[in-house]
Amino acid sequence: MAETETQPQQQNGLQENRVFLPPPAFAAQANVSGMDAYKALCEEAERDYEGFWARLARENLDWHKPFTSVLDESNAPFYKWFQDGQLNASYNCLDRHINNGNGDKTALIFEADDGAVTRVTYRELHERVCKFANGLKSRGIKKGDRVVIYMSMSVEGVAAMQACARIGATHSVVFGGFSAKSLQERINDAGAVAVITADEQMRGGKPLPLKAIVDEALGLGGCDSVRDVIVYRRTGGNIAFYEGRDIWLHDLVDNQPGQCEPEWVDAEHPLFILYTSGSTGTPKGVQHATGGFLLWAAQTMKWTFDIKPQDLFWCTADIGWVTGHTYIAYGPLAVGATQIVFEGVPTYPNAGRFWQTIDKHKVSIFYTAPTAIRSLIKAANADENVHPKNYDLSSLRLLGSVGEPINPEAWMWYYRNIGREKCPIVDTFWQTETGGHMITPLPGATPLVPGSCTLPLPGIMAAIVDEAGQDVPNGNGGILVVKRPWPSMLRTIWGNPERFKTAYFPDELGGRYYLAGDGAIRNKDTGYFTITGRIDDVLNVSGHRMGTMEIESALVAHEMVAEAAVVGKPDDTTGEAICAFVVLKRARPTGEEAKKLAAELRTWVGKEIGPIAKPKEIRFGDNLPKTRSGKIMRRLLRVLAKGEQITQDISTLENPAILEQLRETS
Ligand code: WT7
Repeated sequence: MAETETQPQQQNGLQENRVFLPPPAFAAQANVSGMDAYKALCEEAERDYEGFWARLARENLDWHKPFTSVLDESNAPFYKWFQDGQLNASYNCLDRHINNGNGDKTALIFEADDGAVTRVTYRELHERVCKFANGLKSRGIKKGDRVVIYMSMSVEGVAAMQACARIGATHSVVFGGFSAKSLQERINDAGAVAVITADEQMRGGKPLPLKAIVDEALGLGGCDSVRDVIVYRRTGGNIAFYEGRDIWLHDLVDNQPGQCEPEWVDAEHPLFILYTSGSTGTPKGVQHATGGFLLWAAQTMKWTFDIKPQDLFWCTADIGWVTGHTYIAYGPLAVGATQIVFEGVPTYPNAGRFWQTIDKHKVSIFYTAPTAIRSLIKAANADENVHPKNYDLSSLRLLGSVGEPINPEAWMWYYRNIGREKCPIVDTFWQTETGGHMITPLPGATPLVPGSCTLPLPGIMAAIVDEAGQDVPNGNGGILVVKRPWPSMLRTIWGNPERFKTAYFPDELGGRYYLAGDGAIRNKDTGYFTITGRIDDVLNVSGHRMGTMEIESALVAHEMVAEAAVVGKPDDTTGEAICAFVVLKRARPTGEEAKKLAAELRTWVGKEIGPIAKPKEIRFGDNLPKTRSGKIMRRLLRVLAKGEQITQDISTLENPAILEQLRETS
């Protein structure tokens, strides 16, 4: 469809005036039907905040020991929810569905890279998780221990997370695209006693190493806490094996009993740590609590995704990101749904893979990232054969978007070509720290505006304030905050409570507002939110979050590099692209030499952090634009990266001549 070419380019939904109402048939059957139902829930939360959350916690979860305390604010901002209650996440995701007579329902449909399909029922998954949990216990792994999971997308990856939850071990999943060094830092920071991995992972028809990277990470030192490396055999590829430390998953679990009494933990017990980038310093270990996290994972499945027993849910994220935690490993299982677990990539064997897979399995709810949509639009325009019109997508009833702003053009394409103008699109704004959706349409209630994540979920007190923490009127941009704690919020940064306070509850905003790190604006008439982008030095490349400082540190760790500054620049496909300005210890390279060195530095960053952090563009200068006091003027670099003329005031700039040099791409 030519829509994407004829529409004027829009970055976000600020000027958007198209409105799409929920289809009446959808609204009629929805879990939240109509705006009055939405408003009633919001009013309930405002009237009796604790009562509202207590009701949801009782409705969504089975408690081994019921809670009497709902919210404890005595040590704010270290909030506690349902703290005298006890439960087990794995019990809530597995046992209770079996107890309710749904043991034979399919829990997971594993779609391998090569298209092979494996189905696992709730009863089978329960048995696998119990055996896995017993295997972990047999190695002395116990409640409170940390276990790092460095795995491909697989049934075993989900089972590993669930097995940790079952025994009360806190998992920390590290995305398989991170380098040995990044993995080592996370193992070290978490003090993990074990690493669960696979020999290799299959992506796009090619095996990629996992176990070899674990070996390398552990070889870097600082991981003395690790006693066991548990290896799932995925490809059978050749790997090194260290007797005493390494054990095959099948050898660990095969003779274990298929029952494992869950370890009942306090609601505040850390379910997982997930590392994410901030504007400064090393990645932060975002710590989530069992009760509050699971409650919101389940509730948002019902509200945002309108999940029903007959649905087939597919979230295309990786378990290495928070989306894969909340909407693969926990949420769908907590509500007893059937879901696809997808190993492959959207472009293999061709760029029709997503649409073909929806058609093949009859997916009803599909949740993916704008970057994937934008790249598949390009692919479909370039090759008729992979255009979604070739596939039967009539099973779809709801679409979702996550991870970055979706531009109205991509939204419209998604709406027309995938949803065939009958599926609502939920543009879900949230973060690793928030544990689940925060601002999103409810598909059977909220009128949709392309490019806007619309309104906060009931109970989420999102607002826009100025730098002093004062409310700004609708129509004015400002800082996105959440004014009250909510159950699925992060509890702290692992091992660094001070950083938790300063990063998320800054004194400037009064110390009580959660600072999301994004800018936002509300529509004058509707109050709808549009996210305008990060207000800190965090980049969002293909929905992957990265700190500019991390990339700069990686660059200056190279022996040739004297100084580096990294900024984001808008990119048609990936949303933002990484642009690095580099000063070498030697003379500024030009021409072929500059190309060669840029390639070398890109590879270097890939080794230091992971391929996702490789700069798209590297420009060399004799220096960087600095103020007289030596501060790098990043705002100028952002303008240069975009290729725009500098119109800002540069009177404080010490070395204006440098701007000309940095204009050029090497
Ligand atoms: C950052 C969080 C959400 C889980 C996956 C990413 C951006 C996320 C949206 C959206 C506009 C969005 C924000 C946020 N973001 N969703 N629907 N519209 N921006 O989690 O890695 O913690 O990144 O992603 O900038 O702060 P994350």
